[in-house]
Amino acid sequence: MRLTAQEKRLHARLLRLFATIQMLIITGTYWGDEGKGKIVDLLSCLYDLAVRYSGGAGAGHTLQTPDGRRFVGHLIPCAIAQGIRCILGRGVFFDIRRFLAEIKDAKGALGKNLPPIWVDKYSPVWTPWHRLFEQWLEYSAGSGKVGTTGKAIGPLSGFNVLRVGLQVHHLFQDPKVLRNRLRRLYRALKPDFDQMVKLGIVRRKDIPLPTHVELALLKDAKKIRNMVTDTAFELSGAYTAGLHILFEGAQAPGLDIDLGTWPYVSAGHSVAAGAPIGTGLPLSAFAKAMVLMVMKALPTRVGAGPFPSEIWGRIQSEVFALEHPDLFKDTLARARFLAEKLALINSGKARLEDWSQYFQVLGYEKGATTGRGRSVGFPDLMWLHYAIRINGPKYFALTRLDMLSGLKIIPVVVGYKLDGKRLKRGEMPDTDDLARVEVIYEYWEGWRRDISGITEWKKLPLKTRQFVKKLEQRLGIPIVLIGTGPGRNHIIVRSVRKASNVTSVRRSSAAA
Ligand code: IMP
Repeated sequence: MRLTAQEKRLHARLLRLFATIQMLIITGTYWGDEGKGKIVDLLSCLYDLAVRYSGGAGAGHTLQTPDGRRFVGHLIPCAIAQGIRCILGRGVFFDIRRFLAEIKDAKGALGKNLPPIWVDKYSPVWTPWHRLFEQWLEYSAGSGKVGTTGKAIGPLSGFNVLRVGLQVHHLFQDPKVLRNRLRRLYRALKPDFDQMVKLGIVRRKDIPLPTHVELALLKDAKKIRNMVTDTAFELSGAYTAGLHILFEGAQAPGLDIDLGTWPYVSAGHSVAAGAPIGTGLPLSAFAKAMVLMVMKALPTRVGAGPFPSEIWGRIQSEVFALEHPDLFKDTLARARFLAEKLALINSGKARLEDWSQYFQVLGYEKGATTGRGRSVGFPDLMWLHYAIRINGPKYFALTRLDMLSGLKIIPVVVGYKLDGKRLKRGEMPDTDDLARVEVIYEYWEGWRRDISGITEWKKLPLKTRQFVKKLEQRLGIPIVLIGTGPGRNHIIVRSVRKASNVTSVRRSSAAA
């Protein structure tokens, strides 16, 4: 494929930053949906292999190729669009039906010749019972629901820990082994299913029997036989041979099972430290790994759980997208809505819901997997310092900066107060306390001009550059990639020399 002059320039700049990085881990920063798909898609041309190390079909990673083709990966790494070998590592919760559907989607969107894909033989396998059980858990939680994506991520992880259920290799062994495993899982869940039927949550005929589940799984298993392997072994060989490996995280620190806002979390290791566990590569292989954290200009959250910088209500935001589908399509109504809301915001008369709806519509903030509207927040330095502390990034990629164009001022959360006491930088209260912190704002100057599609740092308005520099100086981490639109090439690559000198800030933030 012939590259344009602009693409060649972009490639050369990326090489300068990443050429020597054999192991690159790409993670989110807040609560997911931050544009990791776009960044993985962009950088994968520099790598030999791309690996997902956690999460499951609940994730939704979106990419858009330079010629406008769009693909949403749920299980398959976004590197697929650049023809890079893709691996679903051991830490991935494997849903065989969704995987096959996704391959079909990928062929439709990207062409028939997909690169090789490997699936780990030890990944836990989805069954319809996991989904039903999740429905039961959410129902019985009452108002304490997690608001999951409905892809049974929690039950898959939970039963794996309980050592009940099956792994991919069971689909290819003695059928008796598979049958016994399925029966055991069914027996464990039967009392709950009976209760669900009694309460009218599900009809008896909609609970498949073990023989049906077995037949369906075996039918699908035939289609993936050639893709199944011990990916940990393959990755070890690839690493030793010096191949360059990109690790695609799912979700973000706020949804990590151990380091997120438990219990309002997903069930995998979303932080960078999930990469060794979720791939089977040893810690020593990561000694020189680089962590690149992807931060959306404005954080969003779906499902339940604390979100200190949230602008408006979670439920209202989730419903808003479902009730106003037209605003999430390229219509005149959408353009009018955005213009009116922006004028209101800049006049200083906007209510919080005006701010929130403006960003929600502008950013097409609605779940790639669920269609729910995402609730939007202002940039939150307190959360960012926490995420930096647990992920240890070398660089940031700042996505969707174009969304801030046209705003006179941009509120930024710079502190949390709990019971009147200001928390230290990097400190994070427990989930219940996080839900009641008082946030402290600073109001940063915005810029007028639309920066959509700009690819050169020096072409950004002065005030935009000042905003980015201020952000990276406060965080102490260089922002080397800046997204200005949805496409692969809507990106500014800054050389580290040009990124602000942040070392001294880093030292002082550690001391604070
Ligand atoms: P689960 O991963 O389906 O168990 O959902 C647990 C929580 O994580 C819910 O609040 C979900 O909305 C949230 N969540 C899971 N996957 C994603 C994602 O890819 N983006 C954003 N939120 C997610």
